[in-house]
Amino acid sequence: MDFSQLVNKENRLPADYVPDMVEIHEPMGSKIDKTYVNRLNKVAYAYFKLMQAAAKQEGYEIFIDSSYRSYDYQKRVFDSYAEELGIDEAKKRVAPPGGSEHQTGLAFDVISRRDGVMIEESSDEDPELIWMRENAYKFGYILRYPKGKEEITGYKYERWHFRFVGPEIALEMKEKNIDTLEEYHMQKQQDKNKTY
Ligand code: DAL
Ligand code: ZN
Repeated sequence: MDFSQLVNKENRLPADYVPDMVEIHEPMGSKIDKTYVNRLNKVAYAYFKLMQAAAKQEGYEIFIDSSYRSYDYQKRVFDSYAEELGIDEAKKRVAPPGGSEHQTGLAFDVISRRDGVMIEESSDEDPELIWMRENAYKFGYILRYPKGKEEITGYKYERWHFRFVGPEIALEMKEKNIDTLEEYHMQKQQDKNKTY
């Protein structure tokens, strides 16, 4: 599995692409049917559990709210956003079918719990999310749609969406101040094309 795989509007997965994943059981937010079974790549999940334990040590409770999404599910989500907000706004918030990282099994949306209550409407100031932004890279995750990079990612800022790229790439991105996976791949391409 290539943990740096780029999936976006231009690089889409086929409709029948279903990666190897493990079932995961996490308490979920009320907006999701409790009988729904989340799935995630095995390695990404193992690192998530480490991250969750580290967060807990600091007094923060984080869980996986939404992870794998099939092609058909992405289509349903996109269509419902388009109906509610119009197609242009939907495009800034939700991936077209096959264009979502959620289909890779390497991405999840985080949800926090504080004082026994799931935080449905997160804010940038939530201590759990501040901790995630500062520490996720240690566990191989990146905040995938950062603020100020909307032109590059094609999406509005998402404080909840984290993507597993593996600890080595996450550290490299951190050290080189590379904010997005698009820029990481552009950089790699430039390095490759360099002639000496
Ligand atoms: N909200 C992100 C971009 C997705 O639909 O995968
Ligand atoms: Zn997401």
